[in-house]
Amino acid sequence: MTCARRSFKVASILFLEAIAMSAAAQQPARVTSAQEADAPCARCHQQIYDSYMKTVMANASGRIAENAVTATFRHRPSGVEYRISVENGEVWLNYDRPRGV
Ligand code: HEC
Repeated sequence: MTCARRSFKVASILFLEAIAMSAAAQQPARVTSAQEADAPCARCHQQIYDSYMKTVMANASGRIAENAVTATFRHRPSGVEYRISVENGEVWLNYDRPRGV
């Protein structure tokens, strides 16, 4: 089957880190996961820390490749197949579409 193929490198940092980096334009902020940033709090608030790390909010910042969910799925009406993959620490979105779509 002849397909049109497209690849996109997904931004390696999430939106909030991008804002932080532009706010500190002179010196880009280092990307820090919530696990790392909140680790000092865990010394005295271990139970709260452990509970928080199980939430979506806690995992919504940091390097995207660390929590990337890889998947392949086909959009039936169009026949387009989408793939999300991690290669060498980079997250990619690829798709193949049937000719004419
Ligand atoms: C050296 C120990 C220690 C560290 C480290 C520490 N805390 Fe605390 N924290 C306490 C103590 C003691 C209290 C007061 C008693 C309590 O509410 O558990 C407290 C209270 C709090 C409260 C108020 C809780 C309430 O119910 O009113 C918050 C919020 C809080 N800490 C957040 C943090 C955060 C965020 C960090 C990390 C940046 C942190 N703490 C690091 C010891 C610590």
